[in-house]
Amino acid sequence: MASAFLHPFAKPTKSDFITLVRGQGAVVYDDRGNEYVDGMASLWYCAAGHGRTDIADAIGRQARTLAAYSTFDPFTNAPAEQLAEVLVDIAPMADSRVFFTSSGSEAVDTAMKLSRLAHIQAGHPERTLIISRQRGYHGTAYGGTSAQGIAPNREGYAPYVGDVMQVPADDVEALASLMSERASTIAAVLVEPLQGAGGVFPPSDGYLESVRRLCDQHGAHLIYDEVISGFGRLGHWFAAHRYGVRPDMVTFAKAVTSGYQPLGGVFVGPMVRDALEHDPNFFLRTGFTYSGHPTACAAALANLDIMKREGLVQRATTVGRRLSEGLASLAADGTVASVRGDGAVWAVGHHPGIDAFAVRDAMLERGVITRAIGADTNAFCPPLMIADAQVDRIVDALADSMKALR
Ligand SMILES: Cc1ncc(COP(=O)(O)O)c(C=O)c1O
Repeated sequence: MASAFLHPFAKPTKSDFITLVRGQGAVVYDDRGNEYVDGMASLWYCAAGHGRTDIADAIGRQARTLAAYSTFDPFTNAPAEQLAEVLVDIAPMADSRVFFTSSGSEAVDTAMKLSRLAHIQAGHPERTLIISRQRGYHGTAYGGTSAQGIAPNREGYAPYVGDVMQVPADDVEALASLMSERASTIAAVLVEPLQGAGGVFPPSDGYLESVRRLCDQHGAHLIYDEVISGFGRLGHWFAAHRYGVRPDMVTFAKAVTSGYQPLGGVFVGPMVRDALEHDPNFFLRTGFTYSGHPTACAAALANLDIMKREGLVQRATTVGRRLSEGLASLAADGTVASVRGDGAVWAVGHHPGIDAFAVRDAMLERGVITRAIGADTNAFCPPLMIADAQVDRIVDALADSMKALR
């Protein structure tokens, strides 16, 4: 019998879930005493690793002082103000401000709304089209569901938010043609610079440069969804730094707190913020009960402190090199069909007949967590503090599982 908990992204009838009870570093433990190397940093977010008492202590201190309070006018709090300062210092665009949410989905929906709103404020209410990419994942609220490029995640939820369209993922021509057709009615182009949940696809050469050029040509905002790629995953603070192409807004969540508290947000760059700031009587009517939640912001401050102190952004490159070399050796000997990724996020594609969910389960039996994304792909996105020997365990468990499945 299924429990009272209706699980996300699961069969409603399933009852045999793995109950996790504890985590330390790159390892988590279940209630039967099994341990697992966390090859996915939970759901792409636990950059700093599990069991960080510094973050737990910061959360406890803040919860005992002022656990929560709204930041709607007229209130603010010190952790939110401090975190915004820390974040704009590492933001990919100069002169950014930060809007806080509690999740990536809320960040995406907010960025979509702010784009349309900024165009209205700049005198262009006709700019409503939001263009996203096939294979893109932008969360499960209605904006993100409408911008979804992964068809099964859209099915069952129509009708969608209006005037949101998808183009093929790496096809500059298709984007250029839609943009010239809709020209002055485009609000924004929304892309994950590196597509994560859709299969771990880095951008093709020159793609982001072309998107930037087209956005400039048509007066559209370029929104990067960096919910996975942000905060060090690609060996830089953001994918915008990694690929050298500047966006106008950036959504983030996940590794900003390494998951110790739910927190997300949007970096709002000069083009959007100027439009929102130029009329001193304008009142911004969007926000969430927990925008700027002080305990979540205290967790983020402690997490970012650890990331800087331990050089985890740089470490992503080392982790990624070892992991990708290990996976590449399995592609070279035919164990897997393909390997792709960047920084410390990688995926393997399987030969026909291999089910990625069976690979996931075989790896779990061998004490390693991977995620099946689609029927033929397994993803790897370990905590950035993972030890070399634990990276090797991920690769060995994959090799062993593939032997058992063939
Ligand atoms: C690129 C991207 N955007 C948005 C989201 C949604 O974030 P959340 O699940 O925190 O709402 C995710 C979640 O995986 C994501 O990968």
